[in-house]
Amino acid sequence: MIISLIVAIAQNGVIGKSNGEMSWHVKEEFQHFKNTTLGFPIVMGRKTFETLGKPLKGRLNIIVSKNQSYKTLFNDVVVESSLDKAIEHCENINSERIFIIGGGEIYKQAVSFVDEMIITFMKFEAEGEVKFPKINNDDWNIKKLSDHELFEIFRYERKN
Ligand SMILES: NC(=O)c1ccc[n+]([C@@H]2O[C@H](COP(=O)([O-])OP(=O)(O)OC[C@H]3O[C@@H](n4cnc5c(N)ncnc54)[C@H](OP(=O)(O)O)[C@@H]3O)[C@@H](O)[C@H]2O)c1
Repeated sequence: MIISLIVAIAQNGVIGKSNGEMSWHVKEEFQHFKNTTLGFPIVMGRKTFETLGKPLKGRLNIIVSKNQSYKTLFNDVVVESSLDKAIEHCENINSERIFIIGGGEIYKQAVSFVDEMIITFMKFEAEGEVKFPKINNDDWNIKKLSDHELFEIFRYERKN
């Protein structure tokens, strides 16, 4: 099973606001997120799920929360108490690939073990307090996938 991470990062490292809001709305970038993740399980932190407000369609939504009694209004989402358990869940259903979709707290933990990262670099700075952790480019084989007016997309594949 390939464990991927997908993120969009502004030039100043910002990925969102501490009140949960997104720092920008770029439709074409959201379309890329949708096209890439459609059909695969997506794993997210409880705060990111609450920002979305509802599960994303066409994907198994897995929320991680340390609160054992965390419940949502939705029957079709899975809640797990750790990232390990979320990954185990995906292994048990024989997923070929999963996407870790944020937010900041989750990315901080996941960059150390994911197999690949699909990173969108926005071509502007953004307002917000939540940042993506620093990464060491030496650890990754980096390939540019596409270039757009407002962003570029790269694939980071872990070396070895
Ligand atoms: N630009 C992007 O690509 C992108 C993508 C996604 C999100 N975002 C932004 O990111 C921000 C949200 O990030 P955030 O750091 O505030 O929150 P978050 O990472 O979405 O969620 C944090 C919550 O996840 C749970 N959690 C974290 N680690 C866990 C673990 N090891 N085991 C079990 N549960 C765990 C905890 O929930 P409990 O408190 O319930 O225990 C924690 O409070 C928003 O601004 C959003 O817009 C940006």
